[in-house]
This record gives sequence, structure tokens and C-alpha cells, in this order.
Amino acid sequence: MKLVICGGTGYVATELIRQGLALPQISNLVVLSRRPITVPDGANAAKLKQVLIEKYDEYPDNVKKELSGASGCIWTVAITPSKATRYDFEVVRTVCQTSTMAFLNAFMDTKPTSKFRFIYMSGATVERDQTKRPWFHADYVLMRGETESKVEAFAKEHSDHVEAQIVKPGLITSTATLTRAASSAFLKGLSLMVGFIQSLTVQEISAAMLSQVVNGFEKDVLGTDDLKRIGQDVLSKGEE
Ligand SMILES: NC(=O)c1ccc[n+]([C@@H]2O[C@H](COP(=O)([O-])OP(=O)(O)OC[C@H]3O[C@@H](n4cnc5c(N)ncnc54)[C@H](OP(=O)(O)O)[C@@H]3O)[C@@H](O)[C@H]2O)c1
Repeated sequence: MKLVICGGTGYVATELIRQGLALPQISNLVVLSRRPITVPDGANAAKLKQVLIEKYDEYPDNVKKELSGASGCIWTVAITPSKATRYDFEVVRTVCQTSTMAFLNAFMDTKPTSKFRFIYMSGATVERDQTKRPWFHADYVLMRGETESKVEAFAKEHSDHVEAQIVKPGLITSTATLTRAASSAFLKGLSLMVGFIQSLTVQEISAAMLSQVVNGFEKDVLGTDDLKRIGQDVLSKGEE
């Protein structure tokens, strides 16, 4: 299959690309990013197509051409909550919401003939109910929740061609962070916190999302426990 990964230089996308290049079911891996990515050592780079994009809310014809014929996409693009305070909120909305919908519309312009699986990366604390007032980053969390609803509505409206899955992970850790935690007081604290907040590793979530986009969606929304279970199952079989 031809798979698109959006937000290629990011934390999760870097692991998705590493695992995706090793998967025989993926014949073409198209990576959209604003800067060139570093291709992992020893990777099967022949099936990788890097596509540089200026911004994620506009898709010129040359980019649409690269999207054409794709069977799936994993959308990792967002300004994450810790960075969001550095930006005007409307910029954050443009990157997190307008861009997601612009991508989906641009993909429809390619006149897909088969089903397209779209995974939207959200977060565990994201709230869809716009009547609620979450205690943490309320405007951000509600805007991301509204985006989840818009993605689902888009898939419903274009159900002949688009299936959407929302993934809602807690904290995504790296194995290296957890190993270093053993020898640092600060990281020991973080490690305890990680144990407290629901967490999973970047390897687990990447394996889970790739498995879902390649083999089909288990359900419309996956939480941390689902992602961890699916990811661990894939990794234990050495399928990544
Ligand atoms: N990391 C976690 O612990 C965690 C936990 C729960 C949910 N999530 C969610 O998972 C997704 C991926 O997270 P991540 O940690 O991989 O994020 P990340 O490393 O910050 O990557 C996000 C990508 O978004 C794009 N981006 C960031 N700022 C931008 C801006 N100002 N304008 C345009 N594009 C911008 C970048 O694409 P380029 O490659 O083009 O630079 C970047 O690679 C996000 O939706 C995040 O909210 C993450």
C-alpha cells in the first residue's frame, strides 16, 4: 500500500517512518514535512518519497499528485500543548484544525477510487463536549476535541472513500527516557509520574497505528490501553 505520514520530522513520525520502511505491506511511504527528514540508517529508502511542504493548510497540485493513490495516512501534525502558549491561539488552530481538514479536502481532490484510512493523532485529555470547561488548557483541549468531531463528520460524509480513526494516547515515552530515569533523580520523578499518568512508548504507538492503517481499524477511537495492547502484540511478533 501507499501510506502518507504528515509531520515527518516530529517525535512520533520519526519512529513511524523507521518502522514503516521495514514493513513489507507498505510499498510507498510518502512523508510530508516542512524540512527534510533524516532517513534512518539501513532503512529501505527506495520506497520513501519525501515531499516538502511550506504549510499544512495549503496543498499545491504537485503535492496532491504525490497523495494520489494513497490508501492511508497517519496525521501527526499539531502544535503540542507545551508549545502552544508560544503562539497566537488562531495560529495554533490553523495548524491543529484548519490544516487537518485542508489535507482531507486536498486528498478528496485526487478523486480516490478506493477506501482511504485516515488516522488522526489526538490526545487522552482532549474533550469533544464543547459545553464542558476542562481545567487544563481548556481552549486548546476543546479545539482539539472539535477537530476530532470534524474528522469523524468528514469521514461520515465521504464514507464511500474515507474511514477515520482517532487515537487518544496519554504520555508517549521513549525507551531511552525510561532507561535514563534509572540514574537520575529528576528522571526518577518523571518516571513515577509516567507510571501515574497513563503512558505508552513511541515504539508501541507507532506499531499500533501502522498495524491499524495497514490491516483495518479495530474501532473508531483507540485509547492508551488499546494502543498499548495492539502495539505490544505487533512488537512481540516482530512484525514492526
Ligand atoms: N508526544 C506525546 O507525549 C503526545 C501525547 C499525546 C498526544 N500526542 C499527539 O500526537 C501528535 C504527534 O505528537 P509529537 O510529539 O510527535 O509532536 P511533534 O514532535 O511536535 O511533531 C508534530 C509535527 O507537527 C508539525 N508542526 C509543529 N509545529 C508546527 C507549526 N507551527 N506549523 C506547522 N506544523 C507544525 C511538525 O511537522 P514538520 O515535520 O513539518 O516540522 C511536527 O513534526 C500530536 O497531535 C500530539 O498532540 C503526543
